[in-house]
Amino acid sequence: MSQIVVDTAICKKDGACVAVCPSGTLAINEEGFPQEIPESRCILCGHCVAVCSCDAMTHAGLPDEPLLPAFRQLPSPEQMDGFLNSRRSVREFKDKPVSRETMEALLDVARRAPTASNSQNLKWIVVSGPAKVQALSAETVNWIRASGTNPALVERWDSGHDFVLRGAPTVVVACAPADYDWGKQDCAIALTFLELAAEARGLGVCWAGYLTRVAGLHPPLRKALSVPEGYVVRGGLMLGEHKYIYRRVPPRKPLSVLWV
Ligand SMILES: Cc1cc2nc3c(=O)[nH]c(=O)nc-3n(C[C@H](O)[C@H](O)[C@H](O)COP(=O)(O)O)c2cc1C
Repeated sequence: MSQIVVDTAICKKDGACVAVCPSGTLAINEEGFPQEIPESRCILCGHCVAVCSCDAMTHAGLPDEPLLPAFRQLPSPEQMDGFLNSRRSVREFKDKPVSRETMEALLDVARRAPTASNSQNLKWIVVSGPAKVQALSAETVNWIRASGTNPALVERWDSGHDFVLRGAPTVVVACAPADYDWGKQDCAIALTFLELAAEARGLGVCWAGYLTRVAGLHPPLRKALSVPEGYVVRGGLMLGEHKYIYRRVPPRKPLSVLWV
């Protein structure tokens, strides 16, 4: 049975839903209305419902939640570029954890990030409070110490410097199924959405590279993070309130572009 229902009394037959469908799930029927093609593979992206100008379409396969109005009040290119260019990796934080409410809002943005074939199969872990975060740093250092790969870093830790999670009060980690080909990309994109949403709220963010790498190599760190069975850590961020504000945008290497 079709999961997509069209209210023919209000459908304007403009074909937008058919045009935007990425998987060829919809076609125009003899009466000019959109109709689901039997056996087609809908990826549940919701575009057909979201583009409909007359709210004539419902899709029973989509999660049961109200559709948000799309935001049309775009920032100017100058505002957007300025915002993106002014993002910095923040490594000095105040102790106060990011509130549960704010983390929920950030994760709600992250869950709307694109995922390959709209798979949406990521799992998230939020670690809140400097003590819990520091325990993760300590477990990460345990592996680095035992591996002998970077004695200088271990020396920094031993002298009281948390180079792993920088004394952040909150950490968020994105996990993907271990056998999922696009896990790294989906997690990086979702974390980037989360990072920018956090920046927009005035929070400081830094990518947690050491934690991410060691989580894939060191079972005790996996355990400390409560990584779900069958999942792997594909990325993480430290978050908190800034201690310092950057006044300038640092220079970068010139671009290397091949214009073909
Ligand atoms: C995948 C990734 C992993 C990173 N891991 C760490 C990390 O573990 N610790 C850290 O202090 N910075 C980390 N960074 C931040 C980079 O060092 C930083 O992006 C770079 O120095 C440029 O500075 P900016 O982000 O302020 O422009 C990471 C960045 C990325 C993209």
